[in-house]
Amino acid sequence: MRESSYPGVYSDGHHYYTLSQDPIPVYGEKIIEEKGKIYRRWDPSRSKLSAAMHLGLESFEFKDSRILYLGAATGTTVSHISDIADIVWAVEISPISMHSLINLAERRKNIIPILNDARKPEEYEIFVDNPDTVYQDISQRDQVDIFLKNMEYYKPKIGYLMLKTPTIDIRKRPKEILKSTVKKIEEFMNVIEIINLKRYQRDHYAIVVRI
Ligand SMILES: C[S@@+](CC[C@H](N)C(=O)[O-])C[C@H]1O[C@@H](n2cnc3c(N)ncnc32)[C@H](O)[C@@H]1O
Repeated sequence: MRESSYPGVYSDGHHYYTLSQDPIPVYGEKIIEEKGKIYRRWDPSRSKLSAAMHLGLESFEFKDSRILYLGAATGTTVSHISDIADIVWAVEISPISMHSLINLAERRKNIIPILNDARKPEEYEIFVDNPDTVYQDISQRDQVDIFLKNMEYYKPKIGYLMLKTPTIDIRKRPKEILKSTVKKIEEFMNVIEIINLKRYQRDHYAIVVRI
């Protein structure tokens, strides 16, 4: 195992890994023990952030950072980010997913689970303190508005939007949705990277944004 070009992330030449304090897999990922250290394989077909990295993501601002994560689900991607980051505020609307997320947060003290609607950033402000990075993976029709609202509210250094195009409009081509999304974001912020995730996730793009 060696350090990859992504700070805090390791590689065996084929796969990415994060270094974990916890030997228990979170979502069935492969665990490798080497020289007394525990590495968790970061599966690109289960995590869009890993997919973006496999596809050449350049801006990677997670190491030792304060992350606001919107759409945490049961914590697949959150768990890898928690291996790298200082703290992760993990917002999730589903009480069922929240149950697993709370179990995960009991084993990983830098995850703060928040049961809330990401459309209402003012409701979880009480828990969230100055995030450096906002990461969003929410498949809702208004996903772009949710992202812009949180970016404007928390003003992080960088934002990552995992865009799922069919949820916005199933009748339009993914490229059309991407174009209108980028146009909308650029009214307020700068889009610095766009990665088509189709090799791992059909009709998805990773969009990286700075205010
Ligand atoms: C695609 S899944 C996220 C997968 C997760 N990011 C990962 O990589 O491990 C989308 C999640 O967003 C959640 N979600 C949908 N609408 C939401 C909202 N308005 N606020 C917060 N979470 C929401 C869903 O319940 C679901 O768990």
